[in-house]
Parts: sequence; C-alpha cells; structure tokens
Amino acid sequence: MNVTEAVMTRATIRGFKPEPVPEDVIREVIETARHAPSNGNTQPWYISVVSGEARAKLEKAIFEGAAKGLKPHPQWPPGGIGLQGIYKERQYACADRYYGTMGIQRHEKEKREELSMRNWKFFGAPHAAFLSMPNYMHRAHALDLGIFLQTVMLLFVERGIASCPQGALAAFPDVVRKFVHIPEGNAILCGLSFGYEDVGAQINKAKMDREPLENIASFSP
Ligand SMILES: Cc1cc2nc3c(=O)[nH]c(=O)nc-3n(C[C@H](O)[C@H](O)[C@H](O)COP(=O)(O)O)c2cc1C
Repeated sequence: MNVTEAVMTRATIRGFKPEPVPEDVIREVIETARHAPSNGNTQPWYISVVSGEARAKLEKAIFEGAAKGLKPHPQWPPGGIGLQGIYKERQYACADRYYGTMGIQRHEKEKREELSMRNWKFFGAPHAAFLSMPNYMHRAHALDLGIFLQTVMLLFVERGIASCPQGALAAFPDVVRKFVHIPEGNAILCGLSFGYEDVGAQINKAKMDREPLENIASFSP
C-alpha cells in the first residue's frame, strides 16, 4: 500500500470486531508515528492507549456518568461549536448522512442521542487512545497533535486496522484520568478508538463527501 492508497482508504469506522490488535503492532505504529513533524520539534503529543480490563472499566464509568447526566467538561473548547455558513452546512450534511445511514431522521432526537452515546462505548472498539498535550501551550501546537493523529491513523490503515477519531472523548478528562495515565498538566484534545472493522456493520456505510479542489485551493501563477 502506498501513501495515496492509505489516504484514500482511511475512513472513520464506528463498527468493530471484538478481537484485539496485538500489542506489538500498536507499539510499532506509535514508534513510527513519533517521526511526525512538529513546530520547533516540540513533539507535544502524548498518546495514552487503553485496552482490556482498564478499557472496560473506563467505558462503564464514562457511560454510566453520561447516562446519569454528567455534563461534558472538556479542557479545550470542543470542535463543532459556533460554526457558521458553509461550515455549519457541512456539519449538518455530515450529521444527516451519519444518522440517515442508520435510518434516523433529523427530528428523532432520542434515537440520535442513543447513537451518539456510542461514542462513550468507543463504538465497540477493543482499544481507545487519548491524545493530550500540555494545557498551557498555544493552540498552534494543536496542529502538531493533528499531524500525529493522522500519521497514526494512516499507519493503522496500512496494517488493516480501522479507527475513529473522537473529539467526544475529550469530554470527561477527570473520569479518564482514573483509568489511564495522562501526564500532569496535559489536556486531552481527542480520542481515537481502534481495532478491526466489522465490515458488514451498517454504521460503517456512512461515507462522507469532500469539497471539490476549486473550493479549497488556489494556485497563483
Ligand atoms: C478531530 C476529530 C474529531 C472527531 N470527533 C468525532 C466524534 O466525537 N464522534 C464521531 O463519531 N466522529 C468524530 N469524528 C469523525 C468525523 O465525523 C469524520 O472524520 C468526518 O465526518 C469525515 O469522515 P471520514 O473520516 O470517514 O472521512 C472526528 C474527526 C476528527 C478529525
């Protein structure tokens, strides 16, 4: 597989098989992703992987908390808030495609909420990872974390491993810290659930479009 194939093949996957990914494969991916570039070579990323029993306990704690009405309290403002114009339109189109694939209409609030709660179960993935960086750092360093995240996702694709980046997993940092090592002073920016794709799962049929080139690029002679 070449890089172009990996970029074109990667998609957000939300239905997984229960089989875990061998730990040496996960380690090898992160070992390789360390070579991602960063501003001033600061390498501000920290990735905390959770599997097995710790993952199960964390899922229970987050899910029960969310079900009981524990309010999300991310350390960074979450994405998707305050969007305007075409960005809001794209967000709506994304939601319509996602919920529509699952046969849920826009007005079916309860069903949407139910589906959204799967975020707290890592969409059934056997592993989750939390990406954090020092909380005091300027938001420009979030770029570094994003590059690292995509590098991990593409390396996973190359190894037949599917993943789901989740801003939602930044919502309950206090709960996460009880089960996962997050360095002192770090803020969680997002999570990444991963494992092997459940190929037949309806939820994985939600394929997202992209804007055409002329809407996102210019080429000045
Ligand atoms: C930083 C980031 C945060 C995201 N957060 C969530 C999330 O919380 N829950 C979710 O189901 N998908 C989440 N997604 C997945 C996006 O919805 C998805 O990437 C987008 O719709 C494009 O689809 P694709 O990844 O399949 O190409 C997130 C993606 C990124 C990059």
